[in-house]
Amino acid sequence: MSPDLRTLTESELSDWLRAVRTGLLRPPVVTEQEVANRLPYADLTRARGVFDGGRCVATFASFAQELTAVGGAPVQADAIFGVTVSPTHRRRGLLGRMMADDLAAAKERGDVVATLIAAEYPIYGRYGFGPATWTTEWEIDVLRTGLDRHRPVPSPEDGGRIDLVTGAEVRKLGPAIHDRLRARQHGVISRDARWWDRNTGENLPDPASWTEPFYAVHRDADGEPDGLIVYRADDRWSDNKQPLNRATVLGHIAVTPAAERALWHFVCSIDWVTTVRTGHRAPDDLLPLLLPDSRAARVVTHADWLWVRVLDVVRALEARTYAVPGTLTLDVHDAAGLAGGRYRLDASASGASCAATTRDADIALDVRELGMLYLGDESPSRLAALGRIEERTPGAVALAEQMFRAARRAWCPDMF
Ligand SMILES: CC(C)(COP(=O)(O)OP(=O)(O)OC[C@H]1O[C@@H](n2cnc3c(N)ncnc32)[C@H](O)[C@@H]1OP(=O)(O)O)[C@@H](O)C(=O)NCCC(=O)NCCS
Repeated sequence: MSPDLRTLTESELSDWLRAVRTGLLRPPVVTEQEVANRLPYADLTRARGVFDGGRCVATFASFAQELTAVGGAPVQADAIFGVTVSPTHRRRGLLGRMMADDLAAAKERGDVVATLIAAEYPIYGRYGFGPATWTTEWEIDVLRTGLDRHRPVPSPEDGGRIDLVTGAEVRKLGPAIHDRLRARQHGVISRDARWWDRNTGENLPDPASWTEPFYAVHRDADGEPDGLIVYRADDRWSDNKQPLNRATVLGHIAVTPAAERALWHFVCSIDWVTTVRTGHRAPDDLLPLLLPDSRAARVVTHADWLWVRVLDVVRALEARTYAVPGTLTLDVHDAAGLAGGRYRLDASASGASCAATTRDADIALDVRELGMLYLGDESPSRLAALGRIEERTPGAVALAEQMFRAARRAWCPDMF
């Protein structure tokens, strides 16, 4: 009998979580208490499992998310997570079945794009996903930054202030700061109340696994919170009692360059801290250039991050802004039959319109490449050079290059 693909019932959640852990090579142990803690928040209508002989052997889940498009508008996304197939059942098409089921439901619901963070690069291109944001992580050698360690941070002339706060205060202040950030930074994804709970140690499925970090809020000269940094520190000393502590930044969001700068300088100014690990940043983060000696920040990770799969070309392209006005007809190929067709995009200073058309196309591309271009972080010319965009009207790729690129790089600060 072929394994049965279905959404979960409450009694199957424990077996499903065990299968997730098996696929992710984590200890396959799930306690009754953890299941009870998770049940009130689990959307079982969007959690899929494949069952064989009464056991869950494959998992797939999604939730509703908003993704900020270039220009700041939110688009409705189907955010995919918990994707695993147990080693006993790999390479029999189970991921393909679960993906087809979930994307069909997302399309039916009216989601504009699907999003995920890929464990391995080669998995998701075949399903129409393309890497749309990249992440860079730096390690800062604090003593080489050239920052003056004798000065207070922020300095009195900055006009702002920084306060250490509790997790409960972060749950109150954080959402407003984040909402301001996501209205101005493409690639940012929404955070619901559950996200703030989980990232501040509240209502955790497994409270024993939590270690409380430090939280610091930046306020502008009017007292308005406009930045938040979350970090942990280890406890390392040299043989002759010199402090060698490393601060690891778990989150740093700011809505003004002044707040961004003050919070980087703050974490680099903490006594005993000689190394700062920045966490996942946009590749064009201001950080290295904020340091008198930019080479004190060394890149330790640079990789693709958020992958985007366009489900509705018209709404996706109308939701974003374009760097220059222009008209382009795109022939989009989609093997899954979800978003393919020919579309005329007309962008002007007052907004963009897009509609299905029968005109000849200026450029032809797969929906995967459209996902790569969507957040302005990939170059149409580069994809054309690779043969992944076909130019049918001379000059169309150069126009796409001008229209689709954004001044700043896309950034998705979160993992899901
Ligand atoms: C990735 C994973 C879910 C794939 O599941 P699967 O059921 O084996 O995938 P399918 O059988 O549906 O594969 C479909 C196609 O994708 C390919 N594919 C699947 N996983 C791949 C991988 N990791 N690398 C390269 N190709 C992969 C298959 O070879 C197959 O190609 P084909 O159609 O040309 O034959 C599974 O290997 C897994 O659980 N891995 C560990 C956990 C993980 O990485 N999860 C993803 C988290 S984002």
